[in-house]
Amino acid sequence: MSTWTPDSWRHFPIKQQPVYENQQHLARVESELRNYPPLVFAGEARNLKKQLADVAAGNAFLLQGGDCAESFSEFHASNIRDTFKVMLQMAVVLTYAGGVPVVKIGRVGGQFAKPRSADTETIGGVTLPSYRGDIINGVEFTAEARIPDPERMIKAYNQSAATLNLLRAFASGGLADLNQVHKWNLGFASQNEVSEKYEELARRIEDSLRFMEACGVTSRNYRTLRETDFYTSHEALLLSYEQAFTRQDSLTGDWYDTSAHMLWIGDRTREVEGAHVEYLRGIHNPVGVKCGPSMKSDDLLRLCEALNPLNEAGRLNLIVRMGANKVLDGMPRLVQAVKSAGYNVVWSCDPMHGNVYKTANGFKSRPVDAILTEMKEFFQVHKNEGTVAGGVHLEMTGKNVTECTGGTFVVTEEDLSSRYHTHCDPRLNADQSLELAFMIADTLKESRK
Ligand code: PEP
Ligand code: CO
Repeated sequence: MSTWTPDSWRHFPIKQQPVYENQQHLARVESELRNYPPLVFAGEARNLKKQLADVAAGNAFLLQGGDCAESFSEFHASNIRDTFKVMLQMAVVLTYAGGVPVVKIGRVGGQFAKPRSADTETIGGVTLPSYRGDIINGVEFTAEARIPDPERMIKAYNQSAATLNLLRAFASGGLADLNQVHKWNLGFASQNEVSEKYEELARRIEDSLRFMEACGVTSRNYRTLRETDFYTSHEALLLSYEQAFTRQDSLTGDWYDTSAHMLWIGDRTREVEGAHVEYLRGIHNPVGVKCGPSMKSDDLLRLCEALNPLNEAGRLNLIVRMGANKVLDGMPRLVQAVKSAGYNVVWSCDPMHGNVYKTANGFKSRPVDAILTEMKEFFQVHKNEGTVAGGVHLEMTGKNVTECTGGTFVVTEEDLSSRYHTHCDPRLNADQSLELAFMIADTLKESRK
């Protein structure tokens, strides 16, 4: 393989990039970003890699979740706080009911660029370039909004920095203290089956905490009761932005993408000979690859070789997103190929991206039932193959949105119009996320018997 440099991807075929009208403007923004402080520190990415090695070995579970796309207009402290709270709730369910420690990674603090299935969008006879995420162009359906603007990268960086600042405060400033377990429950969910189940679990945790306190173990003297580790991730799609944050670690001399702890590449940009794989192979962060139904075993093995030549545990996360009822057919051959080649990977399940449908009233939605089914099939395949079902990758929010249909607190297709706020794909709301967490916890407990 040729020598890797932070810009070597520029010599490879690339997909899903904006065409900026003014290349000088782009170059000016890139050089400005190169001088900005990193958002994460290489040592943190190494810690995450160690925790992901535990996931690969079956000693921890990975919970990765957040918005499909962050946006400039939905940038509020309450959105960040509520997603953080639901992830803490889900983690506590998985840890307490499922019996495994949970590694938490947000799709947050940089999840702005979106791959699109078509370059243009047509509404009422008018055709415009597709929206590619707020870091590239605007969602409004006007010719002006859809022009890619490099300045948006600067705005995305500033929003990411503020988001990370708040997340760090939440993780270590008291909100994540286990004694707050009741307060993580979000108001709107207070009267249904799932949140009653959560309240019951929170009561049991509080009893245990009181007992431990009597024995001298308190959140004052034990950091792990008081604080949590919360990591960030996004799709490494807009490589101009990622390159600008690719910095050499002063301790090891290795290159890291300091825009997030973990980066993944999508199902549309994962060609072994393409620019995105070239970029990803040189950074030392934990990385992920989305594996859709068209993934071939041979290509997957070549990706494992390119992205993790040293077969380092915790480095590579294979995020499978086949769609409900396609996993039992499509996934075993991939798992078998990776297993027999001896690659050490984290397998996680994205039960979102293979389950999109258009409702009769014109919304892009996902049925909660299909999401639960895909998750169960994922566990089933790993049970059959004797491999580790390592984690889950979700599009979710702490807000009381109506974007996915179904769930215990049933959202119908008619309800979708009431609180459909996503800028891109439909997300699970807090209730639906919690319901999924209980289902996963039961499966984990069962698999450990
Ligand atoms: C995403 O995670 O938002 C996404 C676009 O996924 P995929 O590449 O799996 O379609
Ligand atoms: Co999405």
